[in-house]
Amino acid sequence: MTSTNIYIIFISNIKNAVLTTMKVKKLELIKYPKNYDCGAYAWVVFNKKSTTATKVFKNNFKKEHIKNVFNSEVKAYEIAVKNEELSCLVPAFYGKLKVTQLNGSNENFIPEYAYEMEYIKGRFVKLALINSEERVRITKLFSKYGINYMVDASVLLNDLNKVIKIIDFSKTEHELWA
Ligand SMILES: Nc1ncnc2c1ncn2[C@@H]1O[C@H](COP(=O)(O)OP(=O)(O)OP(=O)(O)O)[C@@H](O)[C@H]1O
Ligand SMILES: [Mg+2]
Repeated sequence: MTSTNIYIIFISNIKNAVLTTMKVKKLELIKYPKNYDCGAYAWVVFNKKSTTATKVFKNNFKKEHIKNVFNSEVKAYEIAVKNEELSCLVPAFYGKLKVTQLNGSNENFIPEYAYEMEYIKGRFVKLALINSEERVRITKLFSKYGINYMVDASVLLNDLNKVIKIIDFSKTEHELWA
């Protein structure tokens, strides 16, 4: 994967000289060996060497809806990584970034709706499809801390069918037709 990190400094408020930095990345979807996966909302591009995964949202629904889904996932990560009970169950979260190029994709994406997390090796399965006791335990645990939308979530299981990692969870549900 060709990915470059450039840091752009935005002067968001000249009067008070408040500076914020935004990481910028160029990505490429490679078929052999495959360096990406995707779902209904996004591509997830892996850099196995640096163990990072970048989730870039597709421009395939109403902009307002995509924005809500993106913000809700970011908020959920921010809660989870700071939480004693949840942090071991989610990938490390490296924050929002801007993807300026996504070579090899034939669909539009939204440069500002992207975030970076830890790449987790293994086979993810939908949380909805695992045994109900473990599914309910995980759903309740996340809900206890305000992460209430687990319908799309995928999990990595150990040999005892216990969840060891979870991805694609968000704070609240955002309905497509809202
Ligand atoms: N941190 C990660 N490490 C390894 N693989 C990942 C990671 N995040 C996502 N993936 C892979 O990418 C796929 C798509 O990711 P994700 O489920 O977040 O996308 P989505 O577009 O929101 O999907 P959905 O249609 O289920 O809502 C996952 O099923 C998983 O295989
Ligand atoms: Mg999703």
